[in-house]
Amino acid sequence: MRALVTGGAGLIGSHLVDALLAQGDEVRILDNLDPGSHRGRPAWIPDEAEFILGDVRDTDALAKSLRGIDEVYHLAAAVGGVTTEISSFFDVNATGTARIFEVLDQEKIAIRKLVAPSSQSIYGEGLYRCEQHGTVQPLPRDLTRMAEGHWEPQCPQCGAALTPLLTDESAHLNGETPYAASKIAEERIVIGLGKRFAIPTAALRYAVVYGPRQSVFNPYTGILSIFSTLLLNDRPPRAFEDGQETRDFVYVGDVVRATMTAMREDGADGQVLNVGRGVPVTIVEVIEALAAAYEREPNYVVTGEFRPGDVRHLVLDAGRIRALGWEPQTELAAGLVQMAGWIEGLGELEDVFSGMLGEQRERGTVMQSDASAPQA
Ligand SMILES: NC(=O)c1ccc[n+]([C@@H]2O[C@H](COP(=O)([O-])OP(=O)(O)OC[C@H]3O[C@@H](n4cnc5c(N)ncnc54)[C@H](O)[C@@H]3O)[C@@H](O)[C@H]2O)c1
Ligand SMILES: [Zn+2]
Repeated sequence: MRALVTGGAGLIGSHLVDALLAQGDEVRILDNLDPGSHRGRPAWIPDEAEFILGDVRDTDALAKSLRGIDEVYHLAAAVGGVTTEISSFFDVNATGTARIFEVLDQEKIAIRKLVAPSSQSIYGEGLYRCEQHGTVQPLPRDLTRMAEGHWEPQCPQCGAALTPLLTDESAHLNGETPYAASKIAEERIVIGLGKRFAIPTAALRYAVVYGPRQSVFNPYTGILSIFSTLLLNDRPPRAFEDGQETRDFVYVGDVVRATMTAMREDGADGQVLNVGRGVPVTIVEVIEALAAAYEREPNYVVTGEFRPGDVRHLVLDAGRIRALGWEPQTELAAGLVQMAGWIEGLGELEDVFSGMLGEQRERGTVMQSDASAPQA
């Protein structure tokens, strides 16, 4: 097979490129080496892959990249960065994705399938159980309640306390961030235009992906990079709220196999599929596990600060892709050892994150609550 991997220089794309080469595919990469994620061309881009430096919004770059290709893995995306403009999420993730279909149509390029990631962030809050009302999905939390240090969402119908459940693909898409909104658009484009142009497609709602090659200077590519930087600079990781928020952390190698499963299996066609381990991990637990991977003391502080729009609990039910034969294989502790080993190999790691906190407080992306600890 001849595969195009857009975003093939990034965290997930680069591991996917390696796996495709290993199974004997011919691989082409289209990536603009976005300065939000990269400092120049990363050394891990293999010589065996053809590399095209270009932008998914650029018709000519796309035409050049798509010619002669059988399978498209469209992983390029605006994932956030300190300087990312709000409109660029939509520009890259929605318009860039639509442009792929436009070019396939205009150039009469027939591909076997296109697979693209969506994101867990499109759900907003996950599913919960109310004793009285059964399964409910609260809207993103109210700022006033958060400012008072009330972290758990309440039943939208009766206000009762809730128990978090695993979230499957039937949940509403309540995500409110620009990134989430752009990913909702992207997956609708992937599924909708796929049907319109009779191209098999699948959209994968990845949980929180981590592993070696994760950007260590972009605060939007994951808390594990931030916590790693702090731990390695003997600074305390800072857990927002009460540190009991839960997430679904899934290792990059497992995500690559899920992506290849969706490409291979006809049962994925026209579908959106969650990709997560389905194991809730609190923020405090992940800090402790990461510190153990570095063989350091966690020494974290629970700050009681919060970020408006943050989700309290979101852990995915990946039953749909499991039914197609995928199973996550990497436990959190083992995956974190892989990631920590890679980060330690980078040498001295500058703490770019502590300096950003003041600015985030000023911009209101990090706020104080009544439960806030004194500022560090
Ligand atoms: N990492 C996660 O936790 C996570 C979770 C859910 C979904 N995803 C999705 O997975 C995909 C890959 O993300 P990642 O974590 O590997 O991020 P990443 O930033 O490491 O990789 C994205 C790659 O896309 C490239 N890129 C960005 N804009 C581009 C453009 N306009 N043209 C060409 N290339 C461009 C970047 O240079 C980068 O190499 C993205 O679609 C992302 O939305 C990631
Ligand atoms: Zn209720």
